[in-house]
Amino acid sequence: MAQATNNLCKPGVMESKPVLVVHGGAWAIPDDLAAESVLGVKHAAKLGFAVLAGGGGAVEAVEAAVRVLEDNPAFDAGHGAVLNADGDVELDAIIMDGATLAAGAVSCVRNIANPVTFARALLEKTPHIMLTGLGANQYAESLGIHQVPTEDLVTENAVAEWEQYHKYKQAVANLFNKHMVHDTVGAVAMDHGGNVACATSTGGITNKMVGRVGDSPIIGSGGYADNLSGAVSATGHGESIMKVTLARRILLDMEGGKVPKEAADAGLSYMKNRVHGHGGVIVISKSGDWAARFTTQRMAWAAVKEGLLHYGLNPGEDLLEDINDFN
Ligand code: GLY
Repeated sequence: MAQATNNLCKPGVMESKPVLVVHGGAWAIPDDLAAESVLGVKHAAKLGFAVLAGGGGAVEAVEAAVRVLEDNPAFDAGHGAVLNADGDVELDAIIMDGATLAAGAVSCVRNIANPVTFARALLEKTPHIMLTGLGANQYAESLGIHQVPTEDLVTENAVAEWEQYHKYKQAVANLFNKHMVHDTVGAVAMDHGGNVACATSTGGITNKMVGRVGDSPIIGSGGYADNLSGAVSATGHGESIMKVTLARRILLDMEGGKVPKEAADAGLSYMKNRVHGHGGVIVISKSGDWAARFTTQRMAWAAVKEGLLHYGLNPGEDLLEDINDFN
């Protein structure tokens, strides 16, 4: 897999303060998953930030953070992904480098535990941005990316969720705020060199049609990164996010002068009013300011900057710990 890059600044060049923010999906997280979700995002943020602190680049850091979330069965990505209408796992992911605007995305891939790493390989090894379905799986095999049996990715929670929604065949558009609809993980980062990156990974929405692709791997919707404005990773109802190209919209607002919190709230509010969609975003600006915002009942998120670990779950929450006090 890709080599670690050293993004420490050259002498005489102003060094940026590294920042890393993660989310574990915007949805009505039930109380029995709350502690696990918060612990999971704190752990991913600490590990991703350690990559930056060690001189690693933003792309490397968001990949590392998202891998931790994909490996955690509390989240809808990799191990723990939700099931499609046939009871299978189809995964989507994107990773984007704000320095070059290069992106790698995979959609509808099966049997891959860490789609974000596969997306990064695509970014680095091909001239394309997205591979999908069978062709993507064939390319993964040619790269020697480890493929796992579907059962390895399926959790009891995912099966229970699938049985509930398969039975009732509910429309998903309004479910994010009312029921158990898992959703998506993501990370955004800025490294010492001032480069930003984003990564987003998901199993999508429970009971989705076979072959359905959501917002997560779509450049400008589920994620976008540009050193000239910042980086965004989105979560929520994919069809709504795609209709308003949420990630790019937020960054355009920031190019127009809005700070991350204002731009995030404006984008989410536009999505709610225009297409009745709910979701959440994590955002970093080109100057390293950040925000974690959502219109669902809850979103587990964590951020690390200047030795402090911020985290939250409920609207308006911003809890604080010294990063060294969290193990
Ligand atoms: N936000 C993930 C999806 O809708 O697929």
